[in-house]
Amino acid sequence: MADNKSFAEVKNKILSAHKNAAPEDKLGFYNTWAENYEQDVAVLDYRAPLLAAECIASFFKGDKGRAIILDVACGTGLVSAHLRRMGFCQFVGVDGSEGMLDLARKTGLYQELKQCMLGQDTLPVQNESYDIVVIVGALSVGQVPVGVIRELWQATKPGGYVCMTTRGNADNQDYKKEMERMVRMMEEEKRWSRVTVNEVEKWERAVSEHESGYIPGTVYLYQRTY
Ligand SMILES: C[S@@+](CC[C@H](N)C(=O)[O-])C[C@H]1O[C@@H](n2cnc3c(N)ncnc32)[C@H](O)[C@@H]1O
Repeated sequence: MADNKSFAEVKNKILSAHKNAAPEDKLGFYNTWAENYEQDVAVLDYRAPLLAAECIASFFKGDKGRAIILDVACGTGLVSAHLRRMGFCQFVGVDGSEGMLDLARKTGLYQELKQCMLGQDTLPVQNESYDIVVIVGALSVGQVPVGVIRELWQATKPGGYVCMTTRGNADNQDYKKEMERMVRMMEEEKRWSRVTVNEVEKWERAVSEHESGYIPGTVYLYQRTY
């Protein structure tokens, strides 16, 4: 009963943030959500950070201790925390929300944290400098525009990996199609090659008015070729 109540509360909070929110409003929402974010996404059974980290760890063949990871839209640091437990230890984080960045800073995981409004500001990192670039929970409608994927590629060293996720539920279908068009186009341009694409049925609990149970999601792992 207590669980149901807290799920309903989290659902309402997220629904209110999705309504008519411009990207700047979204970041305002994340600023106010930051303190409760990890507790709330646990209620949603949000598994994307773990699934992305597992995907990276299972395909990365280099020295994990030396790999430099760019955690884009890092939020409070869930993705890097999972990667840390899997043996990676060098992280740089980027996010648009100062509130989220403050919490990420407190984890002590990151060598550097940078504030950036993706889609408006250029990703504030050097080209070709990361072994792994990861973005989880932020490539979706109303958040990070699809065009930013080219910047993720630019930040990656040749031979390095880009790991991305997106949701597969109804309100994100157009975004997902656009994202996959961009990913395919970059494959045709021989910028990267597909390592694996995992469609996951039980991604997180549904919060929209028209969906129930769990929504699906996808983890994409690409390797930069040049
Ligand atoms: C659902 S959270 C995911 C955080 C973390 N990657 C995780 O999986 O727990 C989405 C994050 O993306 C950030 N974000 C959303 N849109 C953004 C944008 N346009 N530029 C920068 N950050 C953005 C938010 O501030 C938030 O921290």
